[in-house]
Amino acid sequence: MSNNIVSVIVGTQWGDEGKGKIVDLLAEKKDFVVRFHGGNNAGHTVIVNNKKYPFHLIPSGILQPKAVGVIANGVIIDLEVLVEEIKMLQSEGMDLKKKLKVSERCHLILPFHRALDQAYENARGENRLGTTGRGIGPAMADKFSYNGLRIYELLNWNLFVEKFTFQAKIKNKIIETFAIKPIKIKEELEKISKLRKIILPFVADTYQLLKKATDQKKSILLEGAHGVMLDIDFSPYPFSTGSNVIAGAVSAGAGIPQQKISKVLGIVKAYTSRVGRGPLPTELIGKLADEIRKKGTEFGTTTGRARRVGWLDLEAVKFACEVSGISEIAITKIDILSGLENIKICVEYKLDGKPILYSSCGYTELEKLTPLYKEFSGWNEDITKVKSFKGLPKNCQDYIKFIENFLRIPVKLISTGPAREEYIRV
Ligand code: IMP
Repeated sequence: MSNNIVSVIVGTQWGDEGKGKIVDLLAEKKDFVVRFHGGNNAGHTVIVNNKKYPFHLIPSGILQPKAVGVIANGVIIDLEVLVEEIKMLQSEGMDLKKKLKVSERCHLILPFHRALDQAYENARGENRLGTTGRGIGPAMADKFSYNGLRIYELLNWNLFVEKFTFQAKIKNKIIETFAIKPIKIKEELEKISKLRKIILPFVADTYQLLKKATDQKKSILLEGAHGVMLDIDFSPYPFSTGSNVIAGAVSAGAGIPQQKISKVLGIVKAYTSRVGRGPLPTELIGKLADEIRKKGTEFGTTTGRARRVGWLDLEAVKFACEVSGISEIAITKIDILSGLENIKICVEYKLDGKPILYSSCGYTELEKLTPLYKEFSGWNEDITKVKSFKGLPKNCQDYIKFIENFLRIPVKLISTGPAREEYIRV
């Protein structure tokens, strides 16, 4: 990816594709790295000098000295989480004054949203969705029903207190119907007033900041969260997250017009994983799944939950690439497949003996269909230190070439291990 451009990174699966590392890598020469949707349900991990940095809200690219991190208007913010991340970076000696900008248009995830998220999940019982419990759905519902509070309201404390109290009283009535303890309004306001003071210095008009940046041909990297298979419109709803995840979300979430975007990089993990409930056509159960889960440390960055794992599903990834206009691919965690005798890739779905597209399926179809696989021979070599495509074992090359040919999109980057330097540029 060249630098004087606006590029977008999108997860093509169910999240946890390893976006954090790729963002960090590509952010090296960028002027801005921008989060544009979702909230702290996302978890992006970057490992630098053996130290792990888990990010949930602040863009992962902020660790690069040049890049300014922007949390644009489409992101919903839990103040406690944002302050925790600010403190984590400050404790490493990072001066964030000029490095972090937060839009005043960002909606807030408030304590009653977290309580409601849990309450709905409990009430669903066996049919629970497996949300991250971070209050995402209820906060987005408030945003779209004009009941939300934003960073903007935090700028005027009296206004915030008034609006918060009004909403909290209504929410407490709902919370009590679930037999959950209501939130303590005064205590929560005291907490928020402290967090507010830490966050206000970072508040900025991020629309103007990014407009000026695009006018001046600065380089901008837009860091997508989650994965297209969780998109609120294009997933098998309600097994979704509360935002649009496709690359098109950039315009609404950061105010950057589509025609300014020159590249969309799709992150494809070499196999599949999913946290939470919902259909996963290529899911593996048993010993092989345990092996991949352990080797790939497939446990949630946000919740610690064990992720479900499966073979790479190219029928689903193909759709993600189409709907997001993906122009380049980065393959991640290919090293996790080293040592397997045989590896499979799903190339087609069949339902009642007939081919069916991912985009034509609801959750009922996705649960019933039969994935058709192409089988590959595995490789045993440790590939984490390999630096060129040709240096990879032949079977590994074949696996990657197959993905590229199937999707008809060039593979530009291959991540061969968790550390910053473990990658191959193609
Ligand atoms: P929510 O976003 O917390 O409401 O959760 C809805 C669904 O999206 C659940 O299945 C979550 O596990 C999943 N989800 C949300 N964000 C991510 C992510 O960043 N990675 C993986 N799964 C996610």
